[in-house]
Amino acid sequence: MQDLRNSTAFVTGGASGIGLGMVRAFLDSGMRVVVADVRPDHLDAAAEALDAGDKCLFVELDVTDRAGMGRAADAAEEAFGPVHILCNNAGIGMLGDIRLVGYDDWDWCLGVNLGGVVNGIQTFLPRMLAHGRPAHIVNTSSIGAICPGPNGVPYLTAKAAVIALSDTLRADLAGSNVGVTTLIPGPTATRIHEVAALRPERFARTGLKPIEDRLAAGPIFTGGIPPETVGTMVRDAIVAERPYVVTHGAFRPFVEAHFAQILDAIPPATEQEAAALAAMMAGSLADLAGTAS
Ligand SMILES: NC(=O)c1ccc[n+]([C@@H]2O[C@H](COP(=O)([O-])OP(=O)(O)OC[C@H]3O[C@@H](n4cnc5c(N)ncnc54)[C@H](O)[C@@H]3O)[C@@H](O)[C@H]2O)c1
Repeated sequence: MQDLRNSTAFVTGGASGIGLGMVRAFLDSGMRVVVADVRPDHLDAAAEALDAGDKCLFVELDVTDRAGMGRAADAAEEAFGPVHILCNNAGIGMLGDIRLVGYDDWDWCLGVNLGGVVNGIQTFLPRMLAHGRPAHIVNTSSIGAICPGPNGVPYLTAKAAVIALSDTLRADLAGSNVGVTTLIPGPTATRIHEVAALRPERFARTGLKPIEDRLAAGPIFTGGIPPETVGTMVRDAIVAERPYVVTHGAFRPFVEAHFAQILDAIPPATEQEAAALAAMMAGSLADLAGTAS
């Protein structure tokens, strides 16, 4: 999407942190923005801080609510016309050893951090393909998904899935009017530590409560980059049609070490195996892809 002026973005988790950084960058580029967020207090604070008049619509939305997502898309179109940019950014942080994690943690974390992205795509992609104008989807992952460590099994499971989802989505949409960018942020100064305030009553059974209560007192790390920096990186990547935004250079050695382990595990291919793979790509897989078109 080369010209963002007068187009419309829909940003989930848009009332705080990285989402709000994207909202600011889009407004600076002359766009209209729908700010969707589950926390009314974040929406009120964002509305006051942005003071964007009729360029912004604020919508209370839980991204796990599929019918609600459809209603929010209708409201966006009613206010601003077709949506050109969708940022599936809403997420909850979840830190803690796997021995403290229960089914409620899995269901909540995968529901928001992966399910929210799925719901955004299922709701908005058909509308984007139907309006046919240049459009773009941005999905927020995490640097931890490509250099995994301890204490985040459900969180990084969801964030790794967002990378796979986005890669496959990009391949399916190649040649269409819809581009796809995966945002892979490192530490950013946001309110992600306020996770306890977000945990719904129906997911209350958890061994992570002491950690979430500790986080409610304030962030456990300082020195994160400003969310506005991330928002600008995302805006520029959309314009340049870049597939990935990785915010931090300092993680390169850890990412390289992770992928080196996978590369090291790949055995040399025999000629016969390579020929069989080439035949499979050209034959049955190509046939299958052509079946529905
Ligand atoms: N801050 C970091 O260091 C960092 C690093 C890597 C990835 N991320 C990812 O960036 C994204 C944004 O997080 P952030 O750091 O800006 O945190 P944040 O808490 O400041 O902002 C997230 C926003 O999402 C909203 N939200 C949470 N659950 C929601 C739901 N079910 N439906 C709708 N809105 C919901 C929150 O109310 C909040 O306003 C998340 O996906 C997070 O996992 C953050």
